[in-house]
Amino acid sequence: MATTLPLTQRPAWQALEAHYRKTKGLHLRTLFAEDPRRGERLTCEAVGLYLDYSKNRITDETLRLLVNLANECGLAERIAAMFRGDKINVTENRAVLHVALRAPRDAHIYVDGADVIPEVHAVLDKMAAFATRLRAGEWLGYTGRRIRSVVNVGIGGSDLGPVMAYEALKSYSARDLTFRFVSNVDGTDFAEATRDLDPAETLFIVSSKTFTTQETMTNARTARAWCLRALGDEQAIARHFVAVSTNAVEVAKFGIDTANMVGFWDWVGGRYSMDSAIGLSTMIAIGPDNFRALLDGFHAMDEHFRTAPFERNLPALLGLLTIWYNCFFGAQTVAVLPYDQYLKRFPAYLQQLTMESNGKSTTLDGAVVTYQTSPVYWGEPGTNGQHSFYQLIHQGTKLIPCDFIGFAQALNPLGQHHDLLMSNVFAQAEALAFGKTAEQVRAEGTPEWLVPHRTFEGNRPSNVLLGERLTPAMLGKLVALYEHSVFTQGAIWNIDPFDQWGVELGKMLARRIVPELASTDQPDLKHDNSTNTLIRRYRTLRNTGR
Ligand code: F6P
Repeated sequence: MATTLPLTQRPAWQALEAHYRKTKGLHLRTLFAEDPRRGERLTCEAVGLYLDYSKNRITDETLRLLVNLANECGLAERIAAMFRGDKINVTENRAVLHVALRAPRDAHIYVDGADVIPEVHAVLDKMAAFATRLRAGEWLGYTGRRIRSVVNVGIGGSDLGPVMAYEALKSYSARDLTFRFVSNVDGTDFAEATRDLDPAETLFIVSSKTFTTQETMTNARTARAWCLRALGDEQAIARHFVAVSTNAVEVAKFGIDTANMVGFWDWVGGRYSMDSAIGLSTMIAIGPDNFRALLDGFHAMDEHFRTAPFERNLPALLGLLTIWYNCFFGAQTVAVLPYDQYLKRFPAYLQQLTMESNGKSTTLDGAVVTYQTSPVYWGEPGTNGQHSFYQLIHQGTKLIPCDFIGFAQALNPLGQHHDLLMSNVFAQAEALAFGKTAEQVRAEGTPEWLVPHRTFEGNRPSNVLLGERLTPAMLGKLVALYEHSVFTQGAIWNIDPFDQWGVELGKMLARRIVPELASTDQPDLKHDNSTNTLIRRYRTLRNTGR
């Protein structure tokens, strides 16, 4: 039953604090020695994903207390409210219904009294019809040539999801099409993405929820000019530009026929939108059937999250463990380490999902939080990271909980590669947990002066997530797992994971500085002394290059 007590005054929080003081010195070596079946017991399997969380610095009691915390914070009610379509994004007064994007055709979810599912499927059908035509070579460019290159222009959630999904599912993609992603307002991004493309065979998908984002609109205008320079006729735009947005008015103003627009809704947050129309490039790449499988994967994890008891609920467990390290051990970061080259953009995708969601310091009631909120998420695919930053995870002074992600079956089976890859997942998690004692190092004949350097303290926590194979459905499950882990954390911290006011100030100041940079006479600058000096120095340096 939810109470209105501030988080740190809740009985479950205080019980966890006392429990932390009592157990913080426990070593994973001891925990495993005392419970020979710990590695079988502290696991959870659902919808084809196996989570081994036994190498966490927890006892059964920790878990019980964390679940109590979730109950006291009303997690179950918050989950129900999201799935019901309540306006849980309170600062923007919006429903949060990415779960509706992957609900089956016969589901019913209501926003302001209207069932959104028929619209969701109408958009999916429109996307599928377009993707099918394009993949079949039936959507022709202005000069009658087949479209061979698709460029997604978007940023943040309108880029990170599409590019991550394209990379993750490349082995399912149409290899006769080229996909590029332009996000940065740095002209280099556009120039490099298009330098070898033929405008007569290129389609731009301008993806922007608001259709007002400075970077995307700048890149879209540059794309338009690039296209017109080669094709020479405004009429060409209709064959080479489609838009994905919630803002039909701005799409039309930009000059894209709204017949060539696929829409979505204000109840889809940017960082939760890769399975909405924002996934158009993904659908073109992998085809409508694979895209449906991706959505089904999301939906399977949604249903698991909605219905499983928290003790057996993958996203809830992941979220609660994150809270344990973040709020009690003071761990500042989480490393996400996919042992799959196709998931190379997954950590970057998760950075927006996790940190734009839970990087907040104000509670839903407007108070300043008195506890840590989102950790910094970061990571790289294994095994590359092992030869870079793992040294710090193993022997540095910081506690960095790790999520290892791996699959039993390779998509590119080549000799022994896959077993070698996966041996590293298991070895890293083992080394982090158990380390190597000074006695063990000595027993290897190591000279005494070298012993401290070669000793591994261990007791460094990790989760291992194991799936059969990276498929579209598996990707959907993985993304939904982290979405709902973020939700769990946000519910406990009593913050709004669905707004992002923190990005506004920088945008507003940049808008003010643009004309100051463009001006040819020295404008009267009214910033602080550092900003004024930087602007003047930039103008001087830039002008010497002219
Ligand atoms: O500035 C942050 C942000 O609003 C993100 O939340 C969003 O994903 C991104 O910008 C892009 O926004 P849009 O899709 O409206 O262009």
